[in-house]
Amino acid sequence: MASIIFHENTKTFHLYNQKISYIMCVLENGHLGQLYYGKKIHDKEDFSYLVEKCGRPMTSYIFEEDRTFSLEHIKQEYPVYGTTDYRHPAVEILQENGSRISDFQYESYEIRKGKHKLNGLPATYTESDEEAVTLSVKLYDTETKIRLTLFYTIFEEEAVIARSANFYNEGEKPVHLLAAMSMSLDLPDQDYIWMQLSGAWARERHIKNRPLEQGILAIDSLRGNSSHNHNPFMVLKRPGATEQDGEVIGFSLIYSGNFRIQAEVDTYDVTRITAGINPAGFDWKLESGDSFQTPEAIMVYSDHGLNDMSQTFHRLYRKRLARGYWRDRPRPILNNNWEATYFDFTEDRLVEIAKKAKECGVELFVLDDGWFGKRNNDHAGLGDWVENPERLPHGMKGLAEKIESLGMKFGLWFEPEMTNKDSDLYRAHPDWIIQTPNRSTSHGRYQYVLDFSRKEVVDYIYEMMYRILSGAKISYIKWDMNRSITECYSKALPADRQGEVFHRYILGVYDLYDRLTRAFPEVLFESCASGGGRFDPGILYYAPQGWTSDDSDAIERLKIQYGTSLCYPISSMGSHVSVIPNHQVFRNTPLHTRANVAYFGTFGYELDLNKLKEEEIREVKEEITFMKEYRDTLQFGTFYRLKSPFEGNETVWMSVSEDKKTAIVGWYRVLNGVNMPYTRVKLEGLDPDLLYENIQAHTEHYGDELMNLGLITTDVTSGEVPGDAKPCTDFESRIYLLKAREDRE
Ligand code: DGJ
Repeated sequence: MASIIFHENTKTFHLYNQKISYIMCVLENGHLGQLYYGKKIHDKEDFSYLVEKCGRPMTSYIFEEDRTFSLEHIKQEYPVYGTTDYRHPAVEILQENGSRISDFQYESYEIRKGKHKLNGLPATYTESDEEAVTLSVKLYDTETKIRLTLFYTIFEEEAVIARSANFYNEGEKPVHLLAAMSMSLDLPDQDYIWMQLSGAWARERHIKNRPLEQGILAIDSLRGNSSHNHNPFMVLKRPGATEQDGEVIGFSLIYSGNFRIQAEVDTYDVTRITAGINPAGFDWKLESGDSFQTPEAIMVYSDHGLNDMSQTFHRLYRKRLARGYWRDRPRPILNNNWEATYFDFTEDRLVEIAKKAKECGVELFVLDDGWFGKRNNDHAGLGDWVENPERLPHGMKGLAEKIESLGMKFGLWFEPEMTNKDSDLYRAHPDWIIQTPNRSTSHGRYQYVLDFSRKEVVDYIYEMMYRILSGAKISYIKWDMNRSITECYSKALPADRQGEVFHRYILGVYDLYDRLTRAFPEVLFESCASGGGRFDPGILYYAPQGWTSDDSDAIERLKIQYGTSLCYPISSMGSHVSVIPNHQVFRNTPLHTRANVAYFGTFGYELDLNKLKEEEIREVKEEITFMKEYRDTLQFGTFYRLKSPFEGNETVWMSVSEDKKTAIVGWYRVLNGVNMPYTRVKLEGLDPDLLYENIQAHTEHYGDELMNLGLITTDVTSGEVPGDAKPCTDFESRIYLLKAREDRE
């Protein structure tokens, strides 16, 4: 049971559930000190022995007669700079007199059941008040008259703490928030490996590891979107911690814009983690009577390794961040026309592709880029969300009806935040793009970013999208975003508010998502940003799935999906089978390998099935039948990473159904070898006492056997071994389907 205790005498807060404890106290100087975060420990009234007070040369002290109390050496919850602490702060406030010093003194606290909403921002939620408890700690800076509230929610069942901060200006004068992080956490040592998810277009979220060392280590984005380059997610793991064992802490920021996650290890080996909106370029003018809410940061603790941490994130983000009609529903198998046609399509061609897809069992046909305005290539049309009659002579309604009459749902692509100079929108409103006066304006893919910090711009795009969505039966939206922001400046804001534009832009994006998902609650939204350029928890709140990467090559996808799974649930990862040679890496992989990778995601096809041979179509039909039967387990089961593509030639992962009666293991090998050793892999998450049938091999094994002795994954190259294993090539893969015996009766 989750609980928050406050010990009046020692002014100590203890947040705990069955798994974790988080302890802090009010320090002698009135600030909030961090005492402990980790595996659950017994409650006690007094943990003040953990406040490190000692005199050291070159240290500055708060109290005149006391040469022990220095914030430089004390672990804190939301530190400020320059009042004896010289490390990077959680907050920096520029005041009218030019000072940046602040002093937030503890005033009071409140403990409430459940969790409140964060105005205008995505955040985790509860469905009943019994699921979590929230502590609000109120602090006050008398000089600026800023009231700071720190929120901490501890979830009932999960090793999760959600944090955010709120600033309210009670004074008469405005101040400028130059840093307002979502969380700060001081940990007592530096004995961690820092893991991050980094990459670039088409190779998103590769796992990178580095040991912490004295100094600063950070990942961030200054691009306006969370980015392909660094995901707003980081793990601290103990050296020696593995997927199965050891202590790890995951930090995730529910935000889609400029962010920073930083570890500062001081020269006494204390590690300070801060996460939040990137302070670089940030400057929020907080007027008298206004408040500012930071995005939410999530901390997940595990002493059972990375898989356990990821499973916690998966459950939380799947069930208490993602929302709506599609949250718990198996995702439709789709066929997207992008790689099949690019811009070269007519209505007839689309219907031809859709017909074949229907014959194979596909459930949703998605029309990608190119259906609107003068969009015959990527130089024109963005912003003109009106059907191009040359391509769609019967309008969107006509095409949607044709697809529906085939017995499939119809989905559509938009890129709401952008415009081309060659568009009616731009011609009518050239001042609606983000651009700095008297400077040249850079483009990305010949497109310009609409100023979503302006309500009238968001309203206009909403109206256009509303018209299309309400004029035809559209069941799915792919929301794309294909460039980052440059020359950031809004013509609608005064000079002293230009530091707000990046954040206001993202608030505008969230606002449009919010309005559309409310107006069309049963439409499935899939986010996209040139693949995975904005694959973050902020967007997941509105769109329960995202296009993981523009790279649809099965071998490349092993690393991308493996890395992504550290934080994000399988049901959120858009994954399609595409043609060979692959359009990104020109590699030829077997059809079954492409499907075997895509099963661990939302699953679909990104090709024209008419172009496949008869035997391939037979295979596709089998794949779709398999996916329909097992997508519950694949998308909503418990996911385990077993062998990493970052560490060797083989990748293995698996999903286990909630009742543990079905397990699906994906085994993948990049290059074939010769005369290779026998191999086996220890499975996870099975019921040790259940007898499982390995369906393809027609063998039976107990759960404990498969978990301790392992599943034999050796190649079968002679006809003597039972089952339907095929001779192997490069890029080989297999799915092992394990079903508990009683289910087979
Ligand atoms: C980038 C996306 O990632 C692709 O899937 C496709 O939708 C194109 N944009 C269309 O322009």
